[in-house]
Amino acid sequence: MNPFIITGSIPREYFCDRQEESRRIVSGIAGGNSFCLLSPRRLGKSKLVKYCYADESVKQAYYTFYIDLLHTKSLREFTFYFGQAVFNELYSRSKKMLSAFVRGLKSINARLGFDPMTSMPVFSLELGEMDRPEYTLEEIFTCLEHADRPCVVTFDEFQQIGKYPERNIEALLRSHIQHLSNVRFIFSGSEYHTVSQMFLSSARPFYNSVSILELHPIKPSVYIPFVLKHFSEAGKKILPGDVSSVYDLFGGNTYCIQKIFHEAFDAVSAGEECSISVLRQTLDDVLEEAGTGYRMILSEIPTRQKELLYAIASEGLAEKIMGENFIRKYSLVSSSSVQTSAARLKKMELIAANEGKYYIPDVLFRLYLQRLADPTKNFL
Ligand SMILES: Nc1ncnc2c1ncn2[C@@H]1O[C@H](COP(=O)(O)OP(=O)(O)OP(=O)(O)O)[C@@H](O)[C@H]1O
Ligand SMILES: [Mg+2]
Repeated sequence: MNPFIITGSIPREYFCDRQEESRRIVSGIAGGNSFCLLSPRRLGKSKLVKYCYADESVKQAYYTFYIDLLHTKSLREFTFYFGQAVFNELYSRSKKMLSAFVRGLKSINARLGFDPMTSMPVFSLELGEMDRPEYTLEEIFTCLEHADRPCVVTFDEFQQIGKYPERNIEALLRSHIQHLSNVRFIFSGSEYHTVSQMFLSSARPFYNSVSILELHPIKPSVYIPFVLKHFSEAGKKILPGDVSSVYDLFGGNTYCIQKIFHEAFDAVSAGEECSISVLRQTLDDVLEEAGTGYRMILSEIPTRQKELLYAIASEGLAEKIMGENFIRKYSLVSSSSVQTSAARLKKMELIAANEGKYYIPDVLFRLYLQRLADPTKNFL
């Protein structure tokens, strides 16, 4: 068993840290609070929610629903996947609640099927059949409000709702949510700016309705001993300084560091040492593996945008990208062309900006680009 889990659910003994955050969420939920969970990509928001859901006190007292909105593009899809998540949870938790739910879904219930073997309802609805999502949404919330236990609903990648063609989804959701006393929410998102604006701007419907919880990288003082412990338990050697170098290279990005140690753990047998050269080789392999996807992305990007992307990658954190110095240093065309390119790259989420400084949010992609510019570059 590899203790550095990168796909699927993480058993509690392999889940690193997040004690304070999970305590805050679990006790907040018990107190009837809702949360907005924010962090850059791949720091561990989704896993943290799942970890809280798996907490005994939560599991027993609540119905928990988790909806990933990343791939949704409209209110119809939002409602469809929400309905499906509620259906699936109730299916496995309470036949009584499930049948109340199905009866309550008047707008679509004629289209839900029944399994002839078990005579249980099945969520056989097609997305296209969700033709009055506003009604269905109301019915779902009504069911949760009257459930025989309190409910926790997580909308993951909540920033997506801002991209739906329908206007005022925020206000629509808020109008439902503010009347619910039996349901707590976790709104989780990785576009810090978009999501925090929804919850922090006094002009917006969600203002002041939830506590904001910003997730930071797991501290090196917790992560490094975690790695050392799991290597040593398997009889494999690794130096704290080398673990620390990997941590620093990725700025503590949870996915990246877990990915490296997952592969490195497999690369050495019990009794062997995971030396810095093993870690270097692991990093090269990981970059190469990720490279297939990155090359496809790059092949779709026009030259000027690509030049800007390389420039930002090589700076790491690029300031004044429309300024004369930056343009000259990287032989870019002009300030207006940089502006246009930056807007496109930002829209594709390949670059991000924070207080006027631009960077590549996917750390692995940044390293990949730096390696392209200088194939001999050693990161560790
Ligand atoms: N507490 C943890 N202990 C061990 N590994 C973790 C932990 N949290 C996250 N991970 C690892 O990091 C990866 C990313 O976590 P997760 O998917 O929860 O991040 P996220 O913030 O939801 O990312 P995204 O922005 O892409 O949705 C997971 O696949 C898992 O391998
Ligand atoms: Mg996630």
